[in-house]
Amino acid sequence: MSAPEPPRSASSAGDGPRPPAAQTRSGGRVVVLVSGSGSNLAALLGAHQDPAYGARVVGVISDKPSAGGLEIARAAGVATAVVAPADFPDRESWDRAVAEAIAVFRPDLVVSAGFMRILGAATLDRFTDRVLNTHPALLPAFPGAHGVRDALAYGVRVTGCTLHVVDAGVDSGAIIAQQAVSVEPGDDEETLHERIKVVERALLVDWVGRIAREGIRVEGRQVTVG
Ligand code: GRF
Repeated sequence: MSAPEPPRSASSAGDGPRPPAAQTRSGGRVVVLVSGSGSNLAALLGAHQDPAYGARVVGVISDKPSAGGLEIARAAGVATAVVAPADFPDRESWDRAVAEAIAVFRPDLVVSAGFMRILGAATLDRFTDRVLNTHPALLPAFPGAHGVRDALAYGVRVTGCTLHVVDAGVDSGAIIAQQAVSVEPGDDEETLHERIKVVERALLVDWVGRIAREGIRVEGRQVTVG
C-alpha cells in the first residue's frame, strides 16, 4: 500500500523540470528472506503478535530447505517457500522465481534477514525501495558475507549493525539505521557476532515497525521514515 504524494508548491518560472518525487510507502505485510538460524525472523515474529506493532510477517522464503528460520516460521503458523538455486538453470531464472515467490504474499516490505544471496533485477525492480537488509557491520565498512570476521581482522574497536535498502550492489544501498557495538578484548567472530545480533534484532524490530506504521521514502542515499 502506498500513501498519496503530499502536495508540492508550484515551482517558480525558470525552475526547470524536477525529477519525480520519491513516494512514501507504508503498509504492514512483510516477507522475510532467511538462509540461517532465523533469530532476526524470530524477533520480528515476537513483535508482530501485538497488532499495534503495525507489521505482520506474512511469508518466509529461503534459498535453503534446511534453514532453521523455516522451522521457526512453521512453528509460528507463517507460510513458507523454498527457492533453491540448484533447482534453476541460471541466476536469472532463480531470481525471477524468488520475485514470484515474494509476490504471492503481496508484501509492503521484504526483509532480508540473514539471507546469504544477492538479489537480482527481477526482485529489486519489482519491489523497488521495499527490500531491506540487515548487515552485521557499520556500512560502508566491511560489506559482504564476512562483515564480523573482516572487522575483527582489521582491528576496529567499534563495529555494529546496519539496516539498509537493498540496491544492485553488495550491502551498498541507502542506510536506514545503524547502531554501534564495541569490540571487547578476547572477542572472536562468534562472541562478537552474538553481541551484534542482540543489538541487530532490536534495531530491526524497531525500524520495521516504524516503517510499516509511518512509511519510508528513499531519495538517492537519503531515507526518511515517517
Ligand atoms: C545476522 O547477523 C545477519 O546480519 C547476517 O547473518 C545473521 C543472521 O542471523 N547476515 P539469524 O539467521 O537471523 O539468526
